[in-house]
Amino acid sequence: MNTLKESRKARLVGLSNFGWDDLSLLGKGISSFAINEVPYSLLDRRYEGKTLSLCLKSGIKYLAYSPTALGLLAREMKTADLRYPARKNHPLFQEPLFSQGLKVFQKVKEVAAEINAKPIQVALAWVLSRENLLTAIVGSRNPAQLPEFAQAGDLQLSQQHLDVLTNAGNAFKMPI
Ligand SMILES: NC(=O)c1ccc[n+]([C@@H]2O[C@H](COP(=O)([O-])OP(=O)(O)OC[C@H]3O[C@@H](n4cnc5c(N)ncnc54)[C@H](OP(=O)(O)O)[C@@H]3O)[C@@H](O)[C@H]2O)c1
Repeated sequence: MNTLKESRKARLVGLSNFGWDDLSLLGKGISSFAINEVPYSLLDRRYEGKTLSLCLKSGIKYLAYSPTALGLLAREMKTADLRYPARKNHPLFQEPLFSQGLKVFQKVKEVAAEINAKPIQVALAWVLSRENLLTAIVGSRNPAQLPEFAQAGDLQLSQQHLDVLTNAGNAFKMPI
């Protein structure tokens, strides 16, 4: 990675899915990295805690993937949506987690209704408000979805709404 940077073929280099254990193995080499692409949403907070502390200390920003929990926090899931391969066997879409996740989605919808926004915008605005978050990558299979979630970058949630969402997310525990 350093060779790539020294050759100026890459200005910044990043990691993905590096938790505290993996980051610690890098030793001083950790300073070579600018980004850690990790799953992060109201339903997935695994990269908080000591991994976050180490990334903050080392100047490594988070790039959130699956920020809407594969769409669970973006909109109502229809039966056909649940058959989509990425969801079918994913732990978030199995009981009892699925029902617990829907409770968090209910709070996302309530906040969205109060501010006349779409649930996906609220779910993303919460992610973007979090410590050390540089940005989020949202998956889409349809170009019409893009303008809907792109506006989340301009949405500033009130502290009260952020707290409501964080508390709902705190009650959800993603098994490691
Ligand atoms: N580094 C890694 O290990 C890793 C792992 C996983 C993913 N990723 C990256 O992260 C990206 C995003 O993650 P993800 O796709 O897993 O999860 P996500 O972004 O949380 O969810 C994507 C789903 O949200 C729904 N959605 C998108 N726009 C919407 C809109 N405007 N309204 C309502 N629903 C909307 C879509 O569902 P429908 O398609 O059903 O409409 C889409 O498939 C991936 O594309 C991939 O590049 C990286």
